[in-house]
Amino acid sequence: MSLDGRPVIAFCTNDYLGLARHPRVVAAFQRGAEVYGVGSGSAHLVAGHGPAHEALEEELADFLGRPRALLFSTGYMANLGVIQALAGPGDPVFEDKLNHASLIDGALLARARLRRYPHADMAALRRQVQGHITTEGTATALIATDGVFSMDGDLAPLPELAALARAAGAWLLVDDAHGIGVLGREGRGCLDHFGLGMEEVPILVGTLGKALGTFGAFVAGEDDLIETLIQSARSYIYTTAPPPALAAATRASLALARREEWRRERLRELIGGFRAGAAQLGLPLLPSPTPIQPLLAGSAERALAWSQTLESRGLLVTAIRPPTVPLGSARLRVTLSALHSDQELDMLLEALADLPDVQESDGPESPSGPPAVPTAP
Ligand SMILES: Cc1ncc(COP(=O)(O)O)c(C=O)c1O
Repeated sequence: MSLDGRPVIAFCTNDYLGLARHPRVVAAFQRGAEVYGVGSGSAHLVAGHGPAHEALEEELADFLGRPRALLFSTGYMANLGVIQALAGPGDPVFEDKLNHASLIDGALLARARLRRYPHADMAALRRQVQGHITTEGTATALIATDGVFSMDGDLAPLPELAALARAAGAWLLVDDAHGIGVLGREGRGCLDHFGLGMEEVPILVGTLGKALGTFGAFVAGEDDLIETLIQSARSYIYTTAPPPALAAATRASLALARREEWRRERLRELIGGFRAGAAQLGLPLLPSPTPIQPLLAGSAERALAWSQTLESRGLLVTAIRPPTVPLGSARLRVTLSALHSDQELDMLLEALADLPDVQESDGPESPSGPPAVPTAP
């Protein structure tokens, strides 16, 4: 990237597969603009939904093995829309405390009864859900979780969540913004990684602006779910449809993401290399098996100072501070991309090793190599 005219190497974007600048994706975008123009002109339900959107929805459904997919303008809007459409005022919605803000805001918009359980704590969730069943009978209940947690990089315990949701008769929504493209066969995400289907996880949200390198989002599931969203998800209905050229670009990047397995292999290699190097240096990493590798600083001041030091050495790693993360857990959210070279990774590790106080900061563990990616039991 270029920062005020100075070249820097970015270790903080979500372009995990390195597709955002791929010539085929760029060419599809340009061709799409020539064919369809730039703007879609109106909402999907008026005249904004065209053949490029339709083709992308069909290809996403095919990719994920679900009957239908519905495009949203952003992941934030998809989460607002799906929760507001499914949960009514007073309905219980259970969410992990580290869920993305859009899942929390969706429950607030729905005026649902939001209960947040400590991160990945299945015993706490079970108690909350049992309390709800005994006190509230058959009201609709929804459990919503990130698949890969956006600021920590760890995976939700999806097999346990699915079993719990099924036993309670609750819906399960998984937002796989950071797993699509990265995990599973052909990059189908964390559900494929765990071997979970639509029976276990009826509502799947994914975003297009991260590993797929473009912009936008989708919800995938049964026909009834998608029809319900079309009829009542306000963030789908009352907004201009995304540019058709964007859908054309995403079709190109989806094909590349599916086909080019080397990108996922390269990412795994980089994750392993980064974690092994960080372990040797005693850096306070979190136990993440994904391209999101946070380095805990503790205070916001230290995270900022680290980020500025790295920037002076030509490395862009933005500081993430409260309230985006809990108080006392400010961090550098290092992210890796399949296009990073070994040399760039070494540059990062050398610069991290030189940060002031880096070994003494309050990390929860001293990592020893990459943690195993959890799989289905
Ligand atoms: C888990 C998660 N869900 C949803 C979003 C929102 O997606 P978008 O940027 O497309 O609005 C993000 C990040 O941006 C995210 O990390």
